[in-house]
Amino acid sequence: MNNFEYCNPVRVVFGKGTISRISDLIPKDAKVLVVYGGGSIKKNGVYDQVKTALKNFNVVEFGGVEPNPQYSTLMNAVKIVKEENITFILSVGGGSTLDGSKFIAAAAKYEGSDPWDILEKGAEVKDAVPLADVITLPATGSEMNCLAVISKKETMEKLAFGSPFVFPKFSIIDPSVTFTLPLRQVANGIADTFVHVIEQYVTHSVNSPLQDRQAEAILLALLDEAPKVFAMPNDYEVRANLFWMATQALNGWLNVGVAQCWATHNIGHEITARTGVDHGRSLALVLPGVWRHQRKEKGERIVQLGRRVFKLDEPNFEKAIDATIAATVKFFQSLGINATKAEYGVTDEVIKAIAELVDSRGVKFGDRGNIGGKEIVEILNLCD
Ligand code: NZQ
Ligand code: ZN
Repeated sequence: MNNFEYCNPVRVVFGKGTISRISDLIPKDAKVLVVYGGGSIKKNGVYDQVKTALKNFNVVEFGGVEPNPQYSTLMNAVKIVKEENITFILSVGGGSTLDGSKFIAAAAKYEGSDPWDILEKGAEVKDAVPLADVITLPATGSEMNCLAVISKKETMEKLAFGSPFVFPKFSIIDPSVTFTLPLRQVANGIADTFVHVIEQYVTHSVNSPLQDRQAEAILLALLDEAPKVFAMPNDYEVRANLFWMATQALNGWLNVGVAQCWATHNIGHEITARTGVDHGRSLALVLPGVWRHQRKEKGERIVQLGRRVFKLDEPNFEKAIDATIAATVKFFQSLGINATKAEYGVTDEVIKAIAELVDSRGVKFGDRGNIGGKEIVEILNLCD
């Protein structure tokens, strides 16, 4: 095990009918900015529940945060936070709205000239407006972590930042609000959850049997529950279980003391920045390519995944790697995620542009830091 330090201060309020709890949890004298997305919350009753809970608060609203939240949109909200002296931000929506809210919270207190520096140059976040959320989509784990991913269409970039200042003060997870999710988004969320666990598990071994078993627990439960949500979309228990898996997959608990490989996410973000493909789908496209390329480095863990999670009994090591990759692709296909590079618009030009951008930043991806522009081209050429 590697050394680690762990602190997760997020109060999780989980279950049916919990949105009303926000009136107890937000400071009484707060001036609240309610941030939301494209309007789903107005169609499914979540907005009304939030308004009722906040009836005795001083509230300003900011709607229109896009999927893959855009820097320029969020900067409009930063202006409102400053002009209106907002003291608390409440995000109501999916991971994009919450990530956007985290950025608004940090950017509003940023003292440098351009808050984009937080993303591009890793400028330090020294403070943020306190924030919390009502999360409506099980996928990102953003409700229990201090990370956010923000896009800038002008430069076709999609970059992440993390800071303890943007941990939500609390997160309301009411799984019944997910009944209105289009099944495409449900599938995206399951793929995202799966790959979050994978990128903290299919790395290199550091002798961490407990962390391994915890990762496998989420994967095994996910494989069990995923088909049920499509067969029984109105089943609350299935929705609840899937949400808690998504939250636990990226609340920082799986990665303590172990190696992490975020290459699939890093490459997937670049693809989304250029093509707009949904986050979960970008991951399902890239992951098999990363494994085919890194089979020597990751073979041992891929086979462990195959044997312990997919219950494969192929004795030959090389064949077991192939069988695990095939089982993973089949799992994505079972979610209805099966488009090709061409269908997503991942052309040779897109691949070349991504490789050049990554090289120009001077970064290398992966737990071994061995994936640069050249390897990204090779990986994407190994994706179907
Ligand atoms: O915008 P509205 O109208 O609310 O509609 C959204 C959006 O169109 C809709 N939706 C959300 N909840 C709903 C609903 N529709 C009906 N009923 C509901 N209950 O779903 C669409 C997608 O929402 P979005 O928030 O974009 O999805 P998701 O939660 O998957 O978030 C994706 C973003 O999170 C980032 C991704 O890169 C992407 O930008 N990630 C954030 C991470 C983090 N903070 O830790 C980690 C992840 O790896 C990921 O990168
Ligand atoms: Zn993700």
